[in-house]
Amino acid sequence: MEKIDNTKIYFVTGAAGFIGFYLSKKLLENGCFVVGLDNVNDYYDVSLKEQRLCILEQTSSVYKTADLLENDNKALSELFNLDDIKNDNRKGQFIFIKGDLSNRNTLKSIFASFHPDYVINLAAQAGVRYSIDHPDSYIESNIIGFYNILECCRQYKVEHLVFASSSSVYGGNTKVPFSTDDKVDEPVSLYAATKKSDELMAHAYSKLYDIPATGLRFFTVYGPMGRPDMAYYKFTDKIVNGQTIQIYNNGDMRRDFTYIDDIIKGICNVIFHPPIDNGKGARYKIYNIGNNHPEPLMDMVRLLEKYLKIEAKKEFLPMQPGDVYQTYADTSDLEKNFGFKPSTSLEEGLRKFVDWYFEYKNL
Ligand SMILES: NC(=O)c1ccc[n+]([C@@H]2O[C@H](COP(=O)([O-])OP(=O)(O)OC[C@H]3O[C@@H](n4cnc5c(N)ncnc54)[C@H](O)[C@@H]3O)[C@@H](O)[C@H]2O)c1
Repeated sequence: MEKIDNTKIYFVTGAAGFIGFYLSKKLLENGCFVVGLDNVNDYYDVSLKEQRLCILEQTSSVYKTADLLENDNKALSELFNLDDIKNDNRKGQFIFIKGDLSNRNTLKSIFASFHPDYVINLAAQAGVRYSIDHPDSYIESNIIGFYNILECCRQYKVEHLVFASSSSVYGGNTKVPFSTDDKVDEPVSLYAATKKSDELMAHAYSKLYDIPATGLRFFTVYGPMGRPDMAYYKFTDKIVNGQTIQIYNNGDMRRDFTYIDDIIKGICNVIFHPPIDNGKGARYKIYNIGNNHPEPLMDMVRLLEKYLKIEAKKEFLPMQPGDVYQTYADTSDLEKNFGFKPSTSLEEGLRKFVDWYFEYKNL
């Protein structure tokens, strides 16, 4: 993996989230100064987010936190002694700000106080099915929140903005593997539409204000401390509790599962290489970041049954609105430019997940 530059200042949004937590941890372990933001919302079990934050506190040399949700009319300079922060050991220091991306003042205060070199925007309202009943949350976090990030990157020059997009942008595309050259104009969920909008907005800002920006289309990221709303985790909960798992499209689905450690390696390689001009006057690039190897959903179920040592009760159902039959990443660009090659098999990754799950649930 690329050597991590610990002389820089990193701003990670969604730091209490699954991917943001692992990225922040990796940066802190390498002695970086990390500012993390998260509103710690209850889209899924808040205690898991709190546990991730505890681990980040233990990983950091100095840990400071401020709550801009409760103090949203205050600037960070009123809550922190910024001189102290500058004088403290900056190597491995973690500043955690509880705050909301959709609040421009929060973001402005963070940028004005810390002047991040690298911004990694992972905070978002994730999930495809949730967007059917909770559309507002997607517009607030993924559209307004991301627009706020772009505005701050415009005002305070950054070396590189890396932001999370999603394989969902490929919608119902049938040509596989999914390539970043494919047309992605027909999203099948609001979530996908917000992620595609982020890519478009980032392109415009990159071109207009010369902000180096890279969007990463993640493909089903999984692993220990992962998201309880995702199928592999929900299935595990249900199998362990003797409940029936619902398998959509009668089990005929394939996912390009990507283990969290492979994703973190990929992100770290990308951070230090802001894109060059794409030939159209924008330092902007989109990559797929996946495994390049779709696995049948039923293989995932069989592996879970094997590691949990329980046979699942199964109910087979038709396809759900917003869902897609297959995700399959063409990762050749990432491989060519950064040597990215995921090395964790689904067997190994799910075994690690189940080991963690047993420990987490005291089973
Ligand atoms: N995990 C995957 O398989 C996957 C796949 C495709 C795309 N992504 C994208 O990657 C990013 C990270 O995903 P994740 O799996 O870590 O999700 P996550 O839900 O675990 O993490 C997102 C974090 O952002 C925070 N957040 C949400 N809205 C916020 C707001 N308005 N202000 C501040 N914080 C806010 C949440 O509290 C959460 O902790 C997201 O943008 C997601 O859309 C993830």
